Amino acid sequence: MKQFFHNPFLYSPLSLGAGNTITIHAPATVANMVCGFDVLGFAVNEPYDEMHFRLRDEPGVKIINLDEYNLPTDPEKNVAGAALLAMLEEVDEKTGVEVSICKKIKPGSGVGSSAASSAGAVVGLNHLLNNRFIKEDLVRFAMSGEKLASGVKHADNIAPCIYGGVTLIRSIFPLDIIPLAAPSLYVTIVHPQIEVRTSDARGILKQQVQLKDAIRQWGNIAGLVAGLLQNDHALIGRSLEDVLIEPVRSILIPGFDTIKQLSKEAGALGGGISGSGPSVFMLSKDENTAKQVEAAMHTVYNQLSLEHHTYVTTINQEGVRVLSPE
Ligand code: HSE
Repeated sequence: MKQFFHNPFLYSPLSLGAGNTITIHAPATVANMVCGFDVLGFAVNEPYDEMHFRLRDEPGVKIINLDEYNLPTDPEKNVAGAALLAMLEEVDEKTGVEVSICKKIKPGSGVGSSAASSAGAVVGLNHLLNNRFIKEDLVRFAMSGEKLASGVKHADNIAPCIYGGVTLIRSIFPLDIIPLAAPSLYVTIVHPQIEVRTSDARGILKQQVQLKDAIRQWGNIAGLVAGLLQNDHALIGRSLEDVLIEPVRSILIPGFDTIKQLSKEAGALGGGISGSGPSVFMLSKDENTAKQVEAAMHTVYNQLSLEHHTYVTTINQEGVRVLSPE
């Protein structure tokens, strides 16, 4: 993917100077964490989006794209814009913001591209407003962006993007977010170059589940949370099992079963579909294993002649990073 490092403040005649401008990095996120559909997610250190903000005297939101994706610049049709508009509704004074977005997380890749835009947007503006809103408010605003992207409000990408680490979203109405201790695990992600829309991947899910499957699923969620808190790799590994969503969605991802099997043979603790796909992630306890998992993923997609990108990264512990004003 092309990389963009354009910084509009370096030569913008409208620059208002330090205090009114800020740059942030918004990390990619892996929602669901296999068994925790809509309730678990974690942030990763690579890839991330870069966004530049400038306060304006004029009310409203102005969006400038610095990347190749041609996303809408009408704030009401752009996930960052929708999140910012939701936030500005709760700001009394006539404040406006200009945001320049350089996406490095490909839209539709399944690693929280829309969440990075909406979460990054509200963290950036909040910083310029002297952090008047708490993180929970920011999640609430950012969910307006997520609703625009997928048709429903869910926070399992947004919350880890804002808080960092692994987050449990016990409830979204009312919001109840529990940041969990995140072990220093390695993450291998493969993104086959196909697009799966979250709304489509949600549309194919069954609306009812068998009690025996529900029991297995909540056993796994509890096991995964306990494994994370106790840093118990074996427990994490055996809890990374999804009997509800993966059997339905995995048909959308070429080579999914083989990726999973070869990754585990290469030493991965476990993994599965990242969010609604098509990316697939695996957790490993060390970098060497994570790279062997990456090699296994390459093997599968090279055999299928499917273009793909991989990342070997770690769990991001801080969430959206605010860089110093230029
Ligand atoms: N929990 C959401 C889903 C995440 O799986 O539909 C989408 O990224």
